[in-house]
Amino acid sequence: MKRFTKGARLAAGLAAAVTIIALVVGTASSDHGRHRYRRRHHDYGSKHLAPVNNPAYKQHCGACHFAYQPALLPSGSWIKILARLDKHFGQQVELDPGPKKIITGYLTANAAEHSPAKRARRIMRCLGTDTPLRITDIPYIRRKHRKLSAVVFKRPKVGSFSNCAACHTSAARGVYDDDDVRIPK
Ligand code: HEC
Ligand code: HEC
Repeated sequence: MKRFTKGARLAAGLAAAVTIIALVVGTASSDHGRHRYRRRHHDYGSKHLAPVNNPAYKQHCGACHFAYQPALLPSGSWIKILARLDKHFGQQVELDPGPKKIITGYLTANAAEHSPAKRARRIMRCLGTDTPLRITDIPYIRRKHRKLSAVVFKRPKVGSFSNCAACHTSAARGVYDDDDVRIPK
């Protein structure tokens, strides 16, 4: 009985040792995968843009088009846009001083140069000190869409390059991953 127990213990010990070896080998061989997983996981927090969370901005600046995340442009661009609302891409945008102050504060505080998101850093890196009036004029953004023909942007369900949410199904969440792109027919 005692011998059997000892044998069983030995067997159990051996099995455990084999398991440990297998685990070590397994960990070593899948180390690359685990690393990639961790890196991707880490990206989730820093890659995507913070979703719009300012009611005044959503209401006044999301009335005619998608409410672009402030991190898509540097504060210098937002200041220029807000200074020229009477001549806003062929439209006249009326904005009372109260909401205008709130919107200015929100857009400048959360502009690309203040965002930790990877995409915002790419935008800043490619712009340098440039302050374009359009996100669609940013070279990094244009480059990402260079394979799309102009015809695609003119499709009724798209309308223009500025209509991010037409193709980026998760644009409102600040997610512009290619996995979430569906181009309307
Ligand atoms: C009366 C309608 C209207 C309102 C309200 C409006 N916009 Fe626009 N906006 C437009 C039009 C039209 C365009 C050009 C879109 C196009 O070319 O397809 C535009 C374009 C833009 C673009 C450039 C998009 C690109 O191509 O990258 C930005 C940025 C922008 N608006 C910001 C704002 C902000 C900030 C506000 C709020 C203060 C605002 N808009 C309110 C009509 C409006
Ligand atoms: C007509 C559809 C369409 C519109 C409109 C559009 N996009 Fe895209 N976008 C795409 C496609 C397609 C890609 C490339 C996906 C790929 O590389 O496979 C892309 C790629 C991107 C990428 C890079 C994604 C990555 O993982 O590298 C960003 C960022 C982006 N778009 C932002 C925008 C923004 C901001 C707007 C609006 C100002 C916009 N897009 C408008 C279709 C569109």
